Amino acid sequence: MTYRLFEGKEHASSYWKYRISPSDQLIQLVLDFLEKQKGRPFELAVDVGCGSGQGTVLLAKHFTSVVGTDVSPAQVEVALQNAKEQNITYRQCVAEELPFSDSSVDLMTAMSAFHWFDRPRFLQEAHRVLKPSGCLALLNYTIDMELSYPDCCSHSLNEICKEFYVALQPYRSPHLGRSSIELYREAYESISYPDKEW
Ligand SMILES: C[S@@+](CC[C@H](N)C(=O)[O-])C[C@H]1O[C@@H](n2cnc3c(N)ncnc32)[C@H](O)[C@@H]1O
Repeated sequence: MTYRLFEGKEHASSYWKYRISPSDQLIQLVLDFLEKQKGRPFELAVDVGCGSGQGTVLLAKHFTSVVGTDVSPAQVEVALQNAKEQNITYRQCVAEELPFSDSSVDLMTAMSAFHWFDRPRFLQEAHRVLKPSGCLALLNYTIDMELSYPDCCSHSLNEICKEFYVALQPYRSPHLGRSSIELYREAYESISYPDKEW
């Protein structure tokens, strides 16, 4: 089953406008891991569940080619409109059936997206398309964090955020379970690759 919650042109445009990109520091951690495991060259990176492409574009300068994939046609359309890098292409497809041949991908990323996939099927598919010693990077952020507002009332604002998330919790999709950290921790434990980092 695929969760089609990210459809519609307006939704996709808001993604492009407001979503925060992963930091360069986080991308560098992933690249360092890939270099340690596989070495260079870095040929093909695939960003699965790429949305409007904020994370995908960060990979462009490090790889010969980068492909962003997403189930939502509107997200892919917005990503295409904003892609300036010559070596990026986008494909509409599900994460569980990727249009790449066996052992062809150096790096596969899923940025704030893995939790929406059929996780066991996606992990199998990632295994099929990754090169030996290729790398799968499952990135996500969590709301279990303290926010810091310089020169402002951090404590009160954090309390308001906590209250807000507690109020939303009953409406959380059952597919995600209670906690994203737990979901990712379980996936991490289930992956049998000898070299992995949390
Ligand atoms: C929370 S968004 C993250 C988008 C982007 N990676 C980012 O960080 O801004 C999740 C994305 O995953 C896509 N998605 C969800 N389930 C999918 C599936 N089974 N196959 C492919 N894409 C999927 C959605 O369409 C959506 O664009």
